[in-house]
Amino acid sequence: MAERKPGEYGYEDTSFRAMGGEAGIRTLVDHFYDLMDTLPEAARIRAMHKQDLSEARDKLAAFLCGWLGGPKRYSERWGPIRIPKAHAHLGIVEQDADAWMLCMTQAAAKVDITDDFRAYFLREIRVPANRIVQAGRG
Ligand code: HEM
Repeated sequence: MAERKPGEYGYEDTSFRAMGGEAGIRTLVDHFYDLMDTLPEAARIRAMHKQDLSEARDKLAAFLCGWLGGPKRYSERWGPIRIPKAHAHLGIVEQDADAWMLCMTQAAAKVDITDDFRAYFLREIRVPANRIVQAGRG
């Protein structure tokens, strides 16, 4: 990520706080997986997951916590992770990344964050989503 100046999203824990801390992240992730569970466009990516989504909810929330500049909850519990590698076995293609982003966009619309931060967050999270697709091609 490019170097950020004080006051900008991405600087230290600015993004983490803009998302409402751990409680805000958990709310986002719960909306995200509820949407994945119901949107027809997400059926293919929903089917890649276990029937029980609780572990997926815990892991994504923990990961986003550190990714947004907050406490590194994922590595505390499960150790280091590389997102493209963690998805390599799933055969994720561009339309899957679009479905994932659709769920995340609709989830982000449901949480109490500023429009400015919502736009920033959705732009930034598209980067690892694209990397997963690129890594799957290689
Ligand atoms: C591009 C579309 C994506 C799809 C279709 C997808 C799908 C999945 C699936 C099916 C799993 C469960 C894997 C398993 O049970 O083996 C998973 C796990 C996970 N995903 Fe994604 N994912 C996507 C993008 C992302 C992005 C962009 C992030 C982070 C910004 C992310 C973070 C995670 C994390 C942290 C886990 C848990 C990994 C582990 O501990 O094994 N995913 N994802």
